[in-house]
Amino acid sequence: MKKNYSVLIVDDEKIQRDSLSGFLKKGGYQTFTAANADQALQIAGGQTIDLVFTDFKMGDKTGYDLLLELKQLNPEISVVIMTAFGTIESAVKAMKAGAYDYLTKPIDLDEVEIILQRAQELRHLVRENRSLRNRLREKHKLSGIITNSPLMAETLSLAARSAESKTSVLIQGESGTGKELIARAIHQASPRSEQPMVTINCAAISENLLESELFGHEKGSFTGAVRQKPGRVEEADGGTLFLDEVGDIPLPIQVKLLRFLQFGEFQRVGGSESLRVDIRLISATNRNLEEMIRDNTFREDFFYRLNVINIQLPPLRQRKEDIPLLIDHFIRKYATRNEKQVEQISNDALDLLMKYDFPGNVRELENIIERAVVLCRDRIIQKSDLPLTLQPLRSGSAPNAPLEFYSGTFKDKVEAFERDLIETALQENNFNQTKAAKALGLNERNLRYKLQKYGMK
Ligand SMILES: Nc1ncnc2c1ncn2[C@@H]1O[C@H](COP(=O)(O)OP(=O)(O)OP(=O)(O)O)[C@@H](O)[C@H]1O
Ligand SMILES: [Mg+2]
Repeated sequence: MKKNYSVLIVDDEKIQRDSLSGFLKKGGYQTFTAANADQALQIAGGQTIDLVFTDFKMGDKTGYDLLLELKQLNPEISVVIMTAFGTIESAVKAMKAGAYDYLTKPIDLDEVEIILQRAQELRHLVRENRSLRNRLREKHKLSGIITNSPLMAETLSLAARSAESKTSVLIQGESGTGKELIARAIHQASPRSEQPMVTINCAAISENLLESELFGHEKGSFTGAVRQKPGRVEEADGGTLFLDEVGDIPLPIQVKLLRFLQFGEFQRVGGSESLRVDIRLISATNRNLEEMIRDNTFREDFFYRLNVINIQLPPLRQRKEDIPLLIDHFIRKYATRNEKQVEQISNDALDLLMKYDFPGNVRELENIIERAVVLCRDRIIQKSDLPLTLQPLRSGSAPNAPLEFYSGTFKDKVEAFERDLIETALQENNFNQTKAAKALGLNERNLRYKLQKYGMK
């Protein structure tokens, strides 16, 4: 502890300085000395000083002046005032101004030692307390996000800090990295958490409906507009508007949204009245917007409006330390949901997952664990409960899995095998259902039925 504790001694009498610093050096403290207040400030400005012993009466600046300036420099420095006269008033004054303690000359070295011990314990407690508080704050601030990765720590801290403000946030990351989860967490941690968060999945709505979905429409403004309908932005008034898959917004709608973001005003489709709302905008995409700007499919000015704070979610394969944590989390989630006793994962199953690349990121891991929990026969998930596509033994084109990979009843085994066949076919055909069906020798409707039956996307 002492090694990284540094002490500065300030006294205009050389003998005093030297005897005290000699004592401290022997005790293993890093020591500095200064003959007056200005020298002391220079030293304290140049490196970390934990504690200062300063004479009260010296030169034109007293130890009291030095105390005030040191506290300004760094409020965490402990300052101990040494006074030759034992004048209680000056000691009291110094203590009131934030001195850590005082000593009367001649200095009693036992007292020095006690002060140093206490100051170090205090520093330790203060730091521990602060880091606990920080960790708690971060935990509570962004709830539901499981991670232990230093890569994510930066991202989360940025997200947590952005929550306070009304600034637009753009979240980018591959599919399944948790973009929507972060968006929700930001909203939850924001002063708007009591107000609605309205999500629009821009990829799921056709171009001609998107504008009316966003801004609403007046009665009769287009065929099918049988009554007036307020837009989603109105629903989000006072809260957060989450534009998911923002990269899929067609150019004409980008223009309309840009105008809305610039002036805070919009009109319903077929309406002439200008309406105003107060929203905080979060958007997310897995598309490469910079590339889209180059291809003229995404407006640069719109991008800059969205991208005031940029949050990049790293893919799971770049933060593999999160895999065991997430597995644990998902086992508990799906064991509870399915009322199963599954508690953990076997080492070789974990090993398999640690080696896997997860193109579908956390969502893919979640699906794998959900399936494994359902298939699992006892408390521990085995290799055989994982999809065959993960299993290196079977890297050929068609699944010819050793049968011991399958567990459960005959029906379980057949279903697991069927599922694996389908999964492999889909993966090998870039998730094109028509091609996968062909490869399997199934008709497409049959494949779709099976996908639905097994809850596969
Ligand atoms: N760090 C995490 N901790 C716990 N759950 C997570 C984490 N990251 C992602 N998830 C879970 O993974 C799933 C996918 O996350 P989410 O929907 O937020 O991803 P996304 O980036 O929006 O994906 P997409 O681009 O496909 O829309 C969700 O069920 C989410 O709860
Ligand atoms: Mg999403």
